[in-house]
Amino acid sequence: MKLTTLLPALVVLGAAPLAAQAAPAALDSAKVAAGKSLFEGRGLCFNCHGMKGEGILGAATRLDATKEKWLHHDGTLAGVIAVIKAGVDEEKSASGQIMPPLGGARLSDAQVEQVAQYVLHLHRQPVK
Ligand code: HEC
Repeated sequence: MKLTTLLPALVVLGAAPLAAQAAPAALDSAKVAAGKSLFEGRGLCFNCHGMKGEGILGAATRLDATKEKWLHHDGTLAGVIAVIKAGVDEEKSASGQIMPPLGGARLSDAQVEQVAQYVLHLHRQPVK
């Protein structure tokens, strides 16, 4: 792990403790960047979650730092990847809104990992 990727994560963690969630995954900046363009483009995520993760379909679909507790995973990279692959069906949904598997987009496993890295990155950014 590069120190340059670890340091900002530690700073963010110190500023805003992620209560009762797993130790934050170290992110790869190249994957985060690739994930950002998928999230905001052909991954379709922005349609329901918003360009900044502000949650277009309501509070349950927020992915930004205003979401204090994840609803459908434990905050690990593997957990986020699993939710993206499976989607969220009516039974599990908190809002009654559903997320189709892969958000309805066509994504390879590598792309799912990139967009999952971006989700964790987005969640750690201060909300403006
Ligand atoms: C059609 C709308 C839609 C699209 C497109 C969509 N999602 Fe979702 N997503 C949802 C809904 C609805 C939920 C569950 C909210 C609830 O429980 O009420 C959800 C949940 C999630 C969660 C879990 C949040 C939590 O609190 O645990 C993650 C992570 C996520 N989506 C990521 C993505 C990513 C990444 C993409 C793009 C590949 C994507 N979503 C595309 C609607 C969508």
